[in-house]
Amino acid sequence: MQTNISLASHIGDYQFDNLLLNAAGVRCASTEELDKILDSDAGGCVTKSATPEPRKGNESPRMKATSMGCINSMGLPNHGLDYYLKFATEKQGNHGKQVILSVAGLSIDQNIEMLKKVQASSFSGLTELNLSCPNIAGKSQLGYDFEAVRDVLAATFKFFKKPLGLKLPPYFDFNQFDGIADVLNDFPITYINSINSIGNGLVVDPETESVVIKPKGGFGGLGGDYVKPTALANVRALRLRLKPEISIIGTGGIKSGKDVFEHVLCGADLVQIGTAFGFDGTPIFERISKELTELMAQKGYQTLADFRGKLKTI
Ligand code: FUM
Repeated sequence: MQTNISLASHIGDYQFDNLLLNAAGVRCASTEELDKILDSDAGGCVTKSATPEPRKGNESPRMKATSMGCINSMGLPNHGLDYYLKFATEKQGNHGKQVILSVAGLSIDQNIEMLKKVQASSFSGLTELNLSCPNIAGKSQLGYDFEAVRDVLAATFKFFKKPLGLKLPPYFDFNQFDGIADVLNDFPITYINSINSIGNGLVVDPETESVVIKPKGGFGGLGGDYVKPTALANVRALRLRLKPEISIIGTGGIKSGKDVFEHVLCGADLVQIGTAFGFDGTPIFERISKELTELMAQKGYQTLADFRGKLKTI
């Protein structure tokens, strides 16, 4: 391992010794799982997105691995905000690792209610507002309704004085990149996290002639190889449009050091690993760190800043 190469990064004033984190939703629902991530080579952890009260989530089977990644419709199974807020407050900054607290209300009112609780607490880390869970039957993803995003941010920043990030859904059209960036640039957002799963995909098993997960008639969020080009496009398109003080966490399709390198080239400050972390567990952080370090050594880069955002066009 090259010792002169650094994988350190930061979001606002928050330092990360390693840019790799878990993605909210995968192996991060219990304090035991979160502790394991903090004990690994990851630069910190993100909690499972919390709702105000504990939830069991959708019926099983609700996740299916495929040769290209996975489809899931978990439905936000979680222990409730109090559980994660307590963990995050106790662990934030211990041993130099950050804990990101993720919240995902089922309505704008629930989001505001949870953010008020976070604001009133002694938690001093980053909070991530998830506007992009695709798996709640009857609820659409707030991140696709730009006026609703504006409304929730306007209401939030009247009282929320702590650093806030947003977990966004994937966007697919330049109008969407422009539209969401116009909204986000009007607010003191610390970072965005792009992308959540590609919502409402459908995996079909030709042998059984059936869908492979039970909720929502088989529709669910896609992760893994299916999503990497979309994730890179969103990181790149938003980096080109957002004001520089908004950092970017790149999430989607990362399973190797090369994938991380591509996300950073597109402008990611940190990255999160979801599907592949689900498959491999915490050893993935050491492996990918090593792969990225070796790639940087081959290319003569010592820091992430040496190539961040420097994607060439032809
Ligand atoms: O269904 C779920 O729990 C997924 C949440 C998310 O994608 O944010």
